[in-house]
Amino acid sequence: MEKPSFSPLIAGTMKWGVWGAQMSQTQMSHYIVHCLSLDIHTFDCAAIYGGYTTEAEFGAAMADVGVERSGFRVISKCGIEYPCAQNPIELKHYDYTYDSILSSVERSLERLRVDILDVLLLHRPSPLLDPEVVAAAIEVLKKNGKIRAFGVSNFSTSTRSLLRKHVVIDVNQIQCSLTHLSPFTDGTLDDHLQNKISTQCWNPLGTVFGNKGEREGRIIEVAATLSKKYGVAVNALCIAWLLKHPARLTPLVGTANATHLSEMAESVHVEMEQIDWFRLYTASTGLDVP
Ligand SMILES: NC(=O)c1ccc[n+]([C@@H]2O[C@H](COP(=O)([O-])OP(=O)(O)OC[C@H]3O[C@@H](n4cnc5c(N)ncnc54)[C@H](OP(=O)(O)O)[C@@H]3O)[C@@H](O)[C@H]2O)c1
Repeated sequence: MEKPSFSPLIAGTMKWGVWGAQMSQTQMSHYIVHCLSLDIHTFDCAAIYGGYTTEAEFGAAMADVGVERSGFRVISKCGIEYPCAQNPIELKHYDYTYDSILSSVERSLERLRVDILDVLLLHRPSPLLDPEVVAAAIEVLKKNGKIRAFGVSNFSTSTRSLLRKHVVIDVNQIQCSLTHLSPFTDGTLDDHLQNKISTQCWNPLGTVFGNKGEREGRIIEVAATLSKKYGVAVNALCIAWLLKHPARLTPLVGTANATHLSEMAESVHVEMEQIDWFRLYTASTGLDVP
C-alpha cells in the first residue's frame, strides 16, 4: 500500500474538544475548513483525546465539511488506557496486546467515520510491550486495509530499534521544540534520518508562550527581532526553526485559534539563514556552542 504524504504542518486536535477549546460541531467544521484553506490537510487524533470524545467530534465535523477521503489524512494513536466516564477502569495503564490494538483501531475508525487510518501510532512505550505481538497486529491491520502506515510516539531509540526488527516504523512522534532540544543531540534525529522515519514534533512551540522564565524571555527577544527580518509572527519563527532541520521535521500545531494558525502557516515560506537558526538555538541554551 502506498505510504501517505503529510502536509508540512499537521493540525493537532488534542485541545479542540473538552480538553481545551470545547468547540461546537459547527465551530470544529469551520476550523477544519480553515486548516484546509492553509494547506494543512493532516489531522492528528488519538483514541484518548477528550476522554475518548474528541475523535467522534472530529469525525462528525469532518463529515459536515464533506471533503473526499483523499483530501485529508488522519493519524490516530492507541495503547493508553485512560480512566474516565467512557472507560471506567481503575488505573491508567498501557495495553499493547493483540486484541486491544485491533479493537482500539476499530473504535477509532468508527468514531472518525473513516475506513482506514493513514497512520496508527503506539502512543507511549509500555514496559510490557512484546514486539512480535505488535508486529502481528500491524500486519493484520495492513492486510485488512485498516491502516496505511505505522509508527510510534515517545519511544526511545533502543525501543524503536528493537521494534524495527519485527515491523517497519514509518513515523515517530516526539516532543521537540526550541525549549525541548534533546532530540537534536541524543541520537533521535540521526536515527530517523538513517532509517527513513518521518519525524512529527508535538508541542512544537514548547514553553515559549506558556512560561515566563529567563529562557523563554531570551527566545522571545531574539525571535521578535527576527520576526521583523522575515516578516512573520514569533510563533511562525519557532515553527520555521524546526522546519530548517535536515530530518524534515513536521510540526504538529495544537492551536485552536484561527489567527495563530494562519500566522504559523506562514512558517513554510521562511528560508531561515543558518546564523539565525543558531541565534535562536543559543538563546534557548543560554550558551555559545562549544
Ligand atoms: N504524541 C504525544 O504524546 C502528544 C503529546 C501532546 C500533544 N500531541 C499532539 O501535538 C499537538 C500539539 O501540541 P501542543 O498543543 O502542546 O503544542 P503547540 O502547538 O506547541 O501549542 C502550545 C500552545 O501555544 C499557544 N500559542 C500559539 N501561538 C501563540 C501566540 N502567538 N501567543 C500565545 N500562545 C500561542 C497555543 O494556544 P492557542 O490555542 O491560544 O493558540 C497552544 O495552546 C496536540 O494537539 C496533539 O495532537 C501529541
